[in-house]
Amino acid sequence: MTNSSPEHSAVAIRAAFLRSVPEVRRHVREVRAQGGQIALVPTMGALHDGHLALVRSSAARGEHVIVSVFVNPAQFAPHEDLDRYPRQESADIALALDAGARAIFAPTAADVYPDGFATTIEVGGPSRGFEGALRPNHFAGVATVVAKLLLIVRPDRLVLGQKDAQQVAVVRQMLRDLNLDDIDLVVHPIVREDDGVAMSSRNRYLNPDQRRAARAMPASLRAAQHEIDAGETDAQRIAAAARRVLEEAVGVRPEYAAVVDPDTFSPLAQLDGPAVLCVAARVGPTRLLDNAVLIPT
Ligand code: PAF
Repeated sequence: MTNSSPEHSAVAIRAAFLRSVPEVRRHVREVRAQGGQIALVPTMGALHDGHLALVRSSAARGEHVIVSVFVNPAQFAPHEDLDRYPRQESADIALALDAGARAIFAPTAADVYPDGFATTIEVGGPSRGFEGALRPNHFAGVATVVAKLLLIVRPDRLVLGQKDAQQVAVVRQMLRDLNLDDIDLVVHPIVREDDGVAMSSRNRYLNPDQRRAARAMPASLRAAQHEIDAGETDAQRIAAAARRVLEEAVGVRPEYAAVVDPDTFSPLAQLDGPAVLCVAARVGPTRLLDNAVLIPT
């Protein structure tokens, strides 16, 4: 689902580790002076092959890739895993550079949210429902930090993973609403482990039994696709096929399975156009998300 873009040649600027906003601005000015095209890959670190695929594909297009690494407190509820979210800055720097990143921007919380910070970006529309309903302030936290990163870096391209499909819809809405739509949103397909489980930094919370149970997530998507291949177009029946697999899996507590419009995240009645099947479940205490872009037969 990557938008096509012309090939660029990388500019000759030494790879940089950037901590502060003025450092980023200086770095970006140098890149721009050499005519470089900038791609921003925002992350919360704990980089895995899913993130690195975003870096590699942008680097392969000759873009000057800046990876931001910031565990954004504003998108975690007080009871969530902010404190134990994996942090491995040195490893992330090495992994990102090895994948072709030209700069790492790793601000501190005080850089992003200085004393007196008082602005929140609330995106309506696709923020409602599903993750937005289960994690009430989550998307405001995501939208606020992504807007800040975009305004600091001012990239040509913003690269996100399809794994967080609702986040993609929220950011797309925000880009449109805030006239940031001159930034090209590139959405990279989900990167999966060999057994089909979508790569996620939170997979490392899973013990071996839970990791096995997590296979129910891609299995639920396959079951739904099987219904579609057999001619089913009723969105509820398609979602129910996915939910059944989650319900039957030992150690998995399904939260939702729904067929939605990829842009509005409104549930669909019929599979007769663009659609995404989203599933969420808890495996042990860990919440896992997965989704599939549905193709009607
Ligand atoms: O997807 C993530 O890792 C985060 O939500 C993002 C986009 C980096 C914002 O903190």
